[in-house]
Amino acid sequence: MEFASLGGFTLSLNLLKLTWKCCCGFRQYVLSSLCQANLRAYGQWAVVTGATSGIGKAYATELARRGLDVVLIGRSDERLLKVAQKIKNKYGRKTHTIRVDFTEGNSIYSTIARELHDLQIGILVNNVGMVCNDHFAYFMETADQKKKITDIINCNILSVPQMSRLVLPQMVLRGRGLIINISSEMGLRPHPLVTLYSATKTFVIHFSQCLHAEYKSEGITVQCVTPFMVSTNMTKNLKVSFFVKSAPGFVYDALNTVGHSTFTSGCLSHALQAFSILLPDWLRMSAFFIRWLRKSGNTKDYRKDVPREKGCLTGKKNK
Ligand SMILES: NC(=O)c1ccc[n+]([C@@H]2O[C@H](COP(=O)([O-])OP(=O)(O)OC[C@H]3O[C@@H](n4cnc5c(N)ncnc54)[C@H](OP(=O)(O)O)[C@@H]3O)[C@@H](O)[C@H]2O)c1
Repeated sequence: MEFASLGGFTLSLNLLKLTWKCCCGFRQYVLSSLCQANLRAYGQWAVVTGATSGIGKAYATELARRGLDVVLIGRSDERLLKVAQKIKNKYGRKTHTIRVDFTEGNSIYSTIARELHDLQIGILVNNVGMVCNDHFAYFMETADQKKKITDIINCNILSVPQMSRLVLPQMVLRGRGLIINISSEMGLRPHPLVTLYSATKTFVIHFSQCLHAEYKSEGITVQCVTPFMVSTNMTKNLKVSFFVKSAPGFVYDALNTVGHSTFTSGCLSHALQAFSILLPDWLRMSAFFIRWLRKSGNTKDYRKDVPREKGCLTGKKNK
């Protein structure tokens, strides 16, 4: 009898949790399009890192469409000017471009600080990101590994607190500001074969949540976005489908969630995918599954790029 009532209690609690999650999801991904936040109220300018293509370009364009002037940061003057010109022509907003390479580390932030000095920054989108390999690979398979490790940490991790440091003081003074950090579904759980990327994205999640907790009382919102697949250069411009969003489509939905959630998959389709992941961690992390994924996911002959001795790819000793 006691077991039955305990079972009933657990079931009701889980049903209640599920109902609550559904209500929050409905508000965040469906109702949010009807009551969008006034993003212009955060301040005149939005700053977007990695703004020359994919998700970053889409954020810059959508923020301009919603009334903000935009600072575009990227590594190619030509691509920056092209996006800036498009924004000016289409939405008549002011733009400012800053060319830096985020893999260069700490040295670039004094330049960015100088360029942002006189601007009222309402929104920062920490979007810039890179992957180590364009295919599933063991940690030791990465070509030019020593440089790549530093590059990805500088680009995916260092850029987030450094850019936040530059804009937070003026946001706190005004008692208003929004920082959007683009993490990834790959940061929510450990993902072998994209090990470094996955780990860098976990940093972004923890940093965002802690920063939000510290500064929400000062009027600052820090939102962390954890997308699944979006069709961009990073994903080799995968065909858009229910599962794979286009960058503009994803960003439109993700910006609607501002004011409704500080931790979001960005859009309904990605939220449903996050909710319905069925593979248990013990299977995903097993050597068998990793070997299978490694074989089935790759078409490229990665062995051309790395030393050939037996065992050197996985780092395991020869038997
Ligand atoms: N696409 C997805 O499915 C997906 C899923 C989850 C999370 N994300 C995250 O979303 C963010 C944007 O990814 P994306 O798919 O839009 O990638 P993308 O199309 O490759 O765009 C990346 C942007 O960052 C710029 N960039 C890359 N390395 C840079 C560097 N060292 N210095 C300066 N700028 C640099 C690129 O400039 P260039 O134009 O010069 O290349 C481009 O503007 C990343 O943080 C990524 O981890 C993407």
